[in-house]
Amino acid sequence: MTEHGPDLTASVAGTHVIEHAGRLLALCEANFPFELDAELETVGAYDFDGKLRSAMTAHPKTDPVTGELHFFGSSPFPPYLLYYIADAKGQIVHSAEIPGATASLKHDFAITRHHVVFIEGSVTFDPAEHSGIPYGWSDAQPSRIGVMPRTADGAARIRWFDIEPGNMLHAANAYEDAQGRIVLEGPTVDREGFQLSWNWWVGAPGRGTEPNTRSYTRRWVVDLAQGRVDEQTIDDLAVEFPTLNEDYVGAENRYTYAVSFPDQDGYGGYGVVKYDRATGARRVHQAGDARLPSEAVFVPAEGAANEDDGYLLTVVSDLKQDASQLLVLDAAGLDRIATVHLPRRVTGGIHGSWIPDTTDQ
Ligand SMILES: [Fe+2]
Repeated sequence: MTEHGPDLTASVAGTHVIEHAGRLLALCEANFPFELDAELETVGAYDFDGKLRSAMTAHPKTDPVTGELHFFGSSPFPPYLLYYIADAKGQIVHSAEIPGATASLKHDFAITRHHVVFIEGSVTFDPAEHSGIPYGWSDAQPSRIGVMPRTADGAARIRWFDIEPGNMLHAANAYEDAQGRIVLEGPTVDREGFQLSWNWWVGAPGRGTEPNTRSYTRRWVVDLAQGRVDEQTIDDLAVEFPTLNEDYVGAENRYTYAVSFPDQDGYGGYGVVKYDRATGARRVHQAGDARLPSEAVFVPAEGAANEDDGYLLTVVSDLKQDASQLLVLDAAGLDRIATVHLPRRVTGGIHGSWIPDTTDQ
């Protein structure tokens, strides 16, 4: 923060890393992306040739059909929400201010083939929060889903729908079903669950020694014709960091992956979870006691024929051994294929990407 406002060229760039149009971009949602070269040396803050006028989310979405990169910039001050599209060549070709948005914390969003889905939860800007992250739960902040057509005039046509109070940090995916309804899924906390995980993040007194969350996967079905939302919690395992085969971003995916956490009653444990949305089956690869996996990144196999033909990569932090390993799991059965023992413990990861070296760099 400077006397003139936030310095968007200053970033810890430690939330996520992506590749788009040959550029490696390290992301943190409060600032510009930081570009890296192919040797991972810092190039510097990247503002899309001056067309990025705000911070950039750490969770942009690549449309697997068009190759476009869709993303937003969120701020606790007006304009609260700006939306951008960069084409497959990396040029920002569309941007718009989104009407009706508020200072609600917006960490992630979703796209479908014909819509953009914004999520505002009941966690919002709170200057009285002195933990270092000025956000907190507010019962006065309604939770809402914003559905915006993917058209040039979409921003003016956005519709906001109230949902049950909660906070969804990460969207698993969204798509349009056969009836044209918007289906959105993602792990969500209620007020109590938010406080539990927040206390850990901010290092509040009395927090546990291991990361925890109390977020449970929730599904919203937005019926645009009827103007209503049906919602329910669909699983009893505490999970976060949902991932999928990214060829299915915006389309109905059969398989969702996530990281599981032990709950306060000892149910579940640290592991990598696979959900089969067609059968309802759930499979867990247990990581072991005090062994915390990072986001499980799906890597398609060469010549893949099925959605789950591929691998899951996760860096496991062993909190007791002070060591880290990269696990390679078979995405079909969650069996471990390989363990890469890293020479030292690396900082517990959050998000990640597989970027093959065949990328044009
Ligand atoms: Fe995230």
